[in-house]
Amino acid sequence: MRKKLLLGNWKMNKTPSEAKAFALAANEMVDYAVAHDIEVGVAPTFVCLATVKENINPKCIVSAQNVNEHASGAYTGEISIGMLKEVGIDWVILGHSERREYNGETSEACNLKIKALLAANMTPVYCCGESLETFEKGETKAWVAEQIKAGLAGLSTEEARKVVIAYEPIWAIGTGKSATKEIAEDTIGYIRGVLRELFAEAAEDMRILYGGSVKPANVTEYMSQPDIDGALVGGASLEPDSFKALIEGMIK
Ligand code: 13P
Repeated sequence: MRKKLLLGNWKMNKTPSEAKAFALAANEMVDYAVAHDIEVGVAPTFVCLATVKENINPKCIVSAQNVNEHASGAYTGEISIGMLKEVGIDWVILGHSERREYNGETSEACNLKIKALLAANMTPVYCCGESLETFEKGETKAWVAEQIKAGLAGLSTEEARKVVIAYEPIWAIGTGKSATKEIAEDTIGYIRGVLRELFAEAAEDMRILYGGSVKPANVTEYMSQPDIDGALVGGASLEPDSFKALIEGMIK
């Protein structure tokens, strides 16, 4: 049985004091989610990770939005796995379409990071998703299959089991134009089929999230789909009230 997961990707939002205020406001709702068998987490920027970790309910996952695969050294501007671990962070989002677009992150680069995270007993959340052009050409499945195969290349079945996948169609991110539950389920079901080919029965344990304009008003319909195991939410995860409403929508 795959546990439902709600993960808020804060992107480049919130100063440390704003992040702390959210953390303090979120304590009860985290308990409420956990009591209903839902895992919840937030992914603040690097400078906010320690303060969020210190102030939020310990049952809440706190995730980074990126990491470097090297242990240390001359990599100006980068953050290592060891640095994250020391502030108590053991989840990392990788391969988000914004990092692919603005920072040149490739599936192959994500593969190195995923392997480094798994070796450190951490949880990668690996994102995939197609552009509007690819969607309109009807090439979504081939596109995401390629991203999944390249990003997870060389993982053992046991390693793959620990990876969380997020399917985020780029045309639905921050646009208010969410994919219908049918489109999301169709692609996510297909992704599970690709995972089955690669990792056999481990595919049934791997969580696949939907992301792209998820709101309190539409989260329930995504959760009703058999292959959708949760949501990766940007804008609607930023305010405690909205985050709470997302949790409530997932419970319905
Ligand atoms: P929005 O929920 O703001 O569309 O963002 C989705 C996303 O990119 C989460 O990673």
